[in-house]
This record gives sequence, structure tokens and C-alpha cells, in this order.
Amino acid sequence: MKPQSNQLYPILFTFFCASLMVVLMGCNSKKEEPQGFQNFNPGQSWPDADSVHINAHGGGILFHDNTYYWFGEYKSEHTSSAQVGVNCYSSTDLYNWKPEGVALPVSDSIGSDIETGCVMERPKVIYNAKTQQFVLYFHLELKGKGYSAARVGIAVSDKVTGPYTYLRSLRPNAGFWPQNMTEAQKNSSLTMADFSDWWTDDWMAAVHDGLFIRRDFEGGQMSRDMTLFVDDDGKAYHIYSSEENLTLHIAELSDDYLSYTGKYIRVAPGGHNEAPAIFKKDGKYFMITSGCTGWDPNAARLFTAESIWGPWEQHPNPCVGDDADLTFHSQSTYILPVAGKDDAFIFMADRWTPKKPIEASYIWLPIQFENGLPVLKWMDQWNLSIFDESNEL
Ligand code: DGJ
Repeated sequence: MKPQSNQLYPILFTFFCASLMVVLMGCNSKKEEPQGFQNFNPGQSWPDADSVHINAHGGGILFHDNTYYWFGEYKSEHTSSAQVGVNCYSSTDLYNWKPEGVALPVSDSIGSDIETGCVMERPKVIYNAKTQQFVLYFHLELKGKGYSAARVGIAVSDKVTGPYTYLRSLRPNAGFWPQNMTEAQKNSSLTMADFSDWWTDDWMAAVHDGLFIRRDFEGGQMSRDMTLFVDDDGKAYHIYSSEENLTLHIAELSDDYLSYTGKYIRVAPGGHNEAPAIFKKDGKYFMITSGCTGWDPNAARLFTAESIWGPWEQHPNPCVGDDADLTFHSQSTYILPVAGKDDAFIFMADRWTPKKPIEASYIWLPIQFENGLPVLKWMDQWNLSIFDESNEL
């Protein structure tokens, strides 16, 4: 039966009210929809776009085509050895990260350098504008050999997120002397055989004078904790803990970033530095490192230089406040220049949890400056607006 028009009005009115409510509720629920993260929460769990804690430890970040790409070690529940490979995430705001998958997977072929169960640490990716290739370096330890291999692994891709093709591993600069080693040091007759005990004063003096450089001259220098740095002129450098973790090296890479030019220096000989992270501000180079205490935190160190080739000068720990002597229970991994903001640098560090490596958290803090030197202060929560204020304390 057809409704009369006077019966239609209440029906239409009810329909109109119901629709209005739906629209209003829709608007409301849009307002309440989570907007994603708008802050950094150092030390807290950091869910990715799939609500899973980010798994990119000992990492580094490449800014490319207006997007940040975070590469890091995929850590597992019960082991720090590589079961998966180098993981990748992308972000446009630095707070919210989308998983991009595994950029360089471990290999299932027995005897491969990157066989499942090897150690792949501190991966860093840089972009070579000339070859238009993305180049990935990481600290490699061979399966079942502990930390004795002390090699660097190199992989390459045409696409930022990978998959990366593993090229080779090596110990850098075989057959080359550091630029800052004297003729007397090169020609010293002291060898390992002259020291039955390590850590004596004489041994330390010999280390300072290049005992390990001479030992490893033919086969290449040891390379463990590492980072990469691309300078304003496009030259790239590999910075790594060498000489049994006693001395840092800064080595120039070839124009295609795939090998070494043989030009390198030693920094802080015998100083026991790991976890190097570097940035450049106003033409000056700054490097933050850690001491060597395994997975346990220690006090950060700060170095500056007017040239990448040194001399590098050491300054007091840049951390201040509670737990400064433990770098707020973390270890440096990278220093990220924030795109589009002047003098805005983020100190990235890892708070390791070796009993459950996958749960390790990230300590990101803004770098502030005092008398021209970096200062790191603990913050429970912060965001990029901190860089809109003057960061000179
Ligand atoms: C400290 C290093 O910084 C880490 O990357 C890792 O190699 C651990 N040592 C292993 O003990």
C-alpha cells in the first residue's frame, strides 16, 4: 500500500535525523582516530605501522626523496646472532614508521659469509649519486667464530629498500699505512711476540705506536663497530673500531663507495672506543662514541675536529644529568641531521637487552649545544619542535 504524503513526513524526518547522527558521529570518530605518534618516547616500546615494536637495532638512517629510511639489525627473541638480516622502515615524520621488509636477508647456504647465525651489526646505508646505487655496509662476524673475524660486509641495491645484493666482506686497507703514523712507528721492530702479557704499560705504549697496524698490515685492519659518513663534497668515509677495538679508524671510500682508497687515519690510539656516530656542523666534525663494555652501557665520549683527517680532540662526556655516566643506559649508533631544519641533530642510541635482544629499545635525544659543543640531556618525551627554539643552552 502506498503511504499517504502526511504519513511520509515523519518517516522522512526520522530518516533525516538518523542520517545527521551518523554524519556527526562520523565526524566525531574521525577526530578521535589515533593520529599516530607525534613525539619521541625514549626507552619505551616503539610500535611500527603494524603495531609491532620496531626491529632495527644498531641502525642508521638515510634521507632520500623526502623520506627517511631506517636500517637496522633484526634482533630475535633469544640470540643476537643474525637469524633474519638487515631490516628497513620508512617514515616522513620520524615518529611513525612503516615496515619495508628485510633489505638484506641472511643466506641459507652453508659457508656463506652471511649464513644464518653470523653476526650482522650496525648496518648503515648511503646513496651514491654518481652510480645511483644504495650502498650498505655492516659489521660482519662469521658464523661460529665469535667476534674474531672483525670484517666489514658490503652490499648494494638500485632500490633504497632493497633487496640488497651482498658483494663481499673484507678487512680494510690491506697494505696501506695510516696517514698519521710516523716512519718510526711503521719501522718499529716490536711484534706481538715481544709481549707475553697484554694490558701492561709497555704493551699499551706499543699499541699506541701501531703494534696491531703492523700485525694486520698485510691482511687488512680489523673492522667491528662502524658507521658511514658522507661529507658535503660527496666523499664517503667508513669509521670503525679497529686494532682489537683499541683504536678507531676513519677510512676514505672510493668514488663508487664500494671499496677503499687506502687513505685512512687512526683516532685516539689505545682509547678503546666503540659505537662511533658522527655529524658535521658549521664546517666542524663531531663524533660521539662509547667505551667497550660489551652490551653494558658506559659513558659516552666526544671528539671534535676541524678536518675529517684530524687532529681529533677529546672532550668530556656530552651527557649531563642522572645516568649521564651510562649514556642514559644506552650506546650510540647514529647521529641524524633532521631534514629542512638548521643545526637539528638527533642522537640515536640502543638500550640493549641481551637476554631478550628483540626487546631492546631506542634512545633518541635532541643534540643541544653549549659553548659550541654537543650536550645530551635525558627527556621522557620530546618532539621536533625543540629545534624551532634555539638549541644553544
Ligand atoms: C658492543 C657493540 O657496540 C655492539 O654492537 C655489539 O658488538 C656488542 N658489543 C657485542 O658484545
